[in-house]
Amino acid sequence: MSRAVFCRVSWAPCLRLGPRIFSARISSIVPPSKTHIEVLGQQFPVDDYTNITPAITSKTALKLHLQPSHPLSTLRGLIESAYPDFTHASSMSPLVTPFKNFDELSFPADHPGRAVTDSYYVNRNMMLRTHTSAHEVEMFKKGETKWLLTADVYRRDEIDASHYPIFHQVEGARIFDTDANGLKEVEEDNARLSSLLAQANIIIEDIPHISPTNPVQHDHDPVFSELVAKNLKLSLNNLILKVFGAASNISKEQPLRVRWIEAYFPFTSPSFEVEVFFQGKWLEILGCGVIRQATLDTAGVQNKIGWAFGLGLERIAMVLFSIPDIRLFWSQDPRFLSQFEDGKINVFQPYSKYPSCFKDVSFWVPKDFELHENDFCDLVRDTAGDLVEDVKRIDHFVHPKTNRTSLCYRVNYRSMDRSLSNEEINHVQSQVISRLKEQFGVEIR
Ligand code: PHE
Repeated sequence: MSRAVFCRVSWAPCLRLGPRIFSARISSIVPPSKTHIEVLGQQFPVDDYTNITPAITSKTALKLHLQPSHPLSTLRGLIESAYPDFTHASSMSPLVTPFKNFDELSFPADHPGRAVTDSYYVNRNMMLRTHTSAHEVEMFKKGETKWLLTADVYRRDEIDASHYPIFHQVEGARIFDTDANGLKEVEEDNARLSSLLAQANIIIEDIPHISPTNPVQHDHDPVFSELVAKNLKLSLNNLILKVFGAASNISKEQPLRVRWIEAYFPFTSPSFEVEVFFQGKWLEILGCGVIRQATLDTAGVQNKIGWAFGLGLERIAMVLFSIPDIRLFWSQDPRFLSQFEDGKINVFQPYSKYPSCFKDVSFWVPKDFELHENDFCDLVRDTAGDLVEDVKRIDHFVHPKTNRTSLCYRVNYRSMDRSLSNEEINHVQSQVISRLKEQFGVEIR
């Protein structure tokens, strides 16, 4: 049965994958002879939490969001242009402490995002950030009051055309003084943003800024909190109009549709999610809310109130540029890269679709051992790199007599830039099988 796990733009519950492991690792990805691993030129001692694979480490320095003319960079630029008077940061290291990623933001000790099955740990004291919110306290500590921060973020996940363990987010935040000047600032900005929207072809389905199930924080003035939540919504509605307006023909007859949904995040209240109706589908694009006062207190910021949002870039870029597979963002193929120009949103022309090659592997899992799907996916990704397009579990049963668990996974291999020979795939698949036996002690059926 599926259990509640968390979506990638928002940590919102969605139904996917199996149980989480919070304690020490269930198996070792690092060979016992290795005492240290290198990430971004630094050496780190390994321990029972270490689960970062070379496939991931090799991508930590790439910063696609800063590569000129890359679609992710163009989208970053478009978003930044909607906030011209904000500070724009985009080169923070992805290495953060779990304290910074979670504790500083009031995540409870048992939050699912902390599990080694869900996040990449260098060791117990260092991880790859799972979201750009990890830098909120740092930015506020520097005295920034209006800022955007774009960065690569990492979450262990299943493999398919829209899930990749690395993706990009833009975090935005703005804080106001809690005195009469701050109040005037937010009111004036709300008036300005409302008049911009009044002239636009946009339909907004909204919910109350504050509600009993999504409350104002007890240390906030409800009137101020309401105005700040309104400022957040107005600001994002204008941003969405700019981003989606750049790619589609919005008109009186075909207005842009946006809907606001109540959400929960440990570090904001009230909290919201936003979906945009684009090409016939509701697309979840961001999470946001009024910043929890504890975050500002930790940053040493006094007498301020404000908002923050976190927006996922890949999903938006996939629809804006018609990019059908998330792996393409990582392609070095000139047939991909040469199609894009800095600052321009154009439709991607697929250069070809090479054939798929499916390989199944069935095995018995050792007794008293739980093989998490993310562990299987990371092993395949680390062996086959971006040749793997999709991994599906096609069978799972427990033998009635022996009580042993049997699993069968179907791996879809397909290259984005060439035809694969059966020989090559057989070789990769046999490596997957030997690593499965070695790392998890499974018995192939
Ligand atoms: N960091 C959240 C996520 O990745 C999004 C978010 C950012 C929510 C800022 C609220 C405020 O899911």
